[in-house]
Amino acid sequence: MCGIIGFVGNKKAAPILLNGLERLEYRGYDSAGIAVIKNGEFEIEKTVERISALKEATQNGEAVKGEIGIGHTRWATHGVPSEKNAHPHLGFKGRFAIVHNGIIENYFELKSELEAEGIAFASETDTEVIAHLLEKYYSGDVFGAISKTVSLLKGSYALGILCSEQPETLYAARNFSPLIIGLGEQENFIASDVTALVSHTKNVLYTKDGEIAVITKNKVDLFSLKGEKISREPTFISWNVDAAEKGGFDHFMMKEIKEQPDVIVKTFEPRIKNKEVFFEGLKLSDEKLKSINRIIITGCGSAYHTGVVAKYVFEELLKIPVEVDLASEFRYRNPVIDKNTLVMVISQSGETADTLAALKEAKSRGAYILGIVNVVGSSIAKEADDVIYTWAGPEIAVATTKAYSAQLIVLYLFGIYAAEKRKSASANLLNILLDEIRSLPPKIESVFKMEDTIKSLAKRHFKMGSVFFIGRNIDYGTAMEGSLKLKEISYINSEAYAAGELKHGTISLIEKGKIVIALSAFEPLRDKMMSNIKEVKARGAFVIATDIKGNSETHKEADEVLYIPKTHPLLLASVEIVPLQLFAYYVALYNKCDIDKPRNLAKSVTVE
Ligand code: G6P
Repeated sequence: MCGIIGFVGNKKAAPILLNGLERLEYRGYDSAGIAVIKNGEFEIEKTVERISALKEATQNGEAVKGEIGIGHTRWATHGVPSEKNAHPHLGFKGRFAIVHNGIIENYFELKSELEAEGIAFASETDTEVIAHLLEKYYSGDVFGAISKTVSLLKGSYALGILCSEQPETLYAARNFSPLIIGLGEQENFIASDVTALVSHTKNVLYTKDGEIAVITKNKVDLFSLKGEKISREPTFISWNVDAAEKGGFDHFMMKEIKEQPDVIVKTFEPRIKNKEVFFEGLKLSDEKLKSINRIIITGCGSAYHTGVVAKYVFEELLKIPVEVDLASEFRYRNPVIDKNTLVMVISQSGETADTLAALKEAKSRGAYILGIVNVVGSSIAKEADDVIYTWAGPEIAVATTKAYSAQLIVLYLFGIYAAEKRKSASANLLNILLDEIRSLPPKIESVFKMEDTIKSLAKRHFKMGSVFFIGRNIDYGTAMEGSLKLKEISYINSEAYAAGELKHGTISLIEKGKIVIALSAFEPLRDKMMSNIKEVKARGAFVIATDIKGNSETHKEADEVLYIPKTHPLLLASVEIVPLQLFAYYVALYNKCDIDKPRNLAKSVTVE
């Protein structure tokens, strides 16, 4: 995730900016840069390497003169990692330098308008439109140019802005992206994250959406977009750097679990326009999409599990055969593929060796390859014919949570998009699904309110020797992911089964006290799940079930029930996985496991 730092004071800015950027490194980044004003001119330094490379190039920043500056770590969304795409970006007259976090949803329209006026773009980023708009609207009044510019932007932004004609003042603005102002003695700061500030000051002002800050070394003023002054008391930060990196949570995994509502909004919001799904830059033509007669989905680990869920969604919406295979298996099969096969390759990192090999295998057989990837410019993104990015931001915990959730959202959106083009599902159903996608974030927030219940459940059962997850249809996919989460971070033997398969072998393992997690929230098959719960209860199992709030039937059969808010059954996986992530987290915590870095596992598996 991108990071911002800004400084104005009596000291050299560059060493402070570089130090702040290093503090933000944990968020993940692919390039970085700083801009400092000296004698009314910008000095800009960028790198596609580590911050240490910038430090080396500038003698730890000492070689860059100037006491006001901004810095940025970039995690690519629009355009590959490169020096020209790295921030800060300059306006077309060279008077404004800006750094930006967030996504400008209408950048394409704004860019076309600016290009039509003859303004040339130096990068592929959405950010650059902001720098050019500031130049366009500036006629001596920086505040006026900022408020005009931000009023044209749709999407999210935290902005650090410098104008070379106002070399004493640092400006900042925010909408749906965090931005914090650090208050010092004869010096002030901006940052996207307190981590970058805590070594300088613990007194901060949290900005709110739609605010603009005007900051000099002695003064900080907050304004609304209309220019009305806002007063706010500073907050004292008691966190140390380590806690600050994790947003105050004990582990990255919990931080990332809690980021899911936000990540889901970031992933769907720019793709839904006037009740239709739109994928920026998608090359797949409508004609090609209509000619597809088969879909194969491949990936590893959790990415594969999103494919298992998507199979049910796609078959319902697209009415064509969908096959899901583990990339490590697919690459050594002799798969029957032709030019009418769409192969969807799912990967958070975009670097998983088996997934990349599966992609190449499918490509060599003539399939059209659609990558669903989180890391921009990664190998899978480059090799695929087309790519749709999940905008989950960098994920640090080895066990994926927010990237998994973002993958599901992209898959739903693609299903709706393709069904609309192919006319394979009713417009009414597609509209209902789009509305339901929008309602997922608050539903997930409401699952977070069950955290104490889940924690105490974990406390009672963390010594369980082994556990079975069972479910049907979409709940089978969620059972697989819930089981993987638990086993990878708590080292408890956990297996997922399609509930109907129990009687064909697994049931012989059920004995008194064995824990069975029965996912029963998929309403069309709830009765069948009730029968399965009875079967295992009759053999002594302790059953923890999930179900939709308001359904009391499950409580009669199961020992414990985790109730989740109702959503459309096709989107159920997005809500139902959350209590399972929390359960896995707390079981691992009580077992004193290394939650963010489980033994023997790696975040990105680039070897076979
Ligand atoms: C590793 C990770 C899993 C992940 C899998 C696929 O095994 O531990 O969390 O699901 O790789 O990774 P990818 O980056 O391709 O999604």
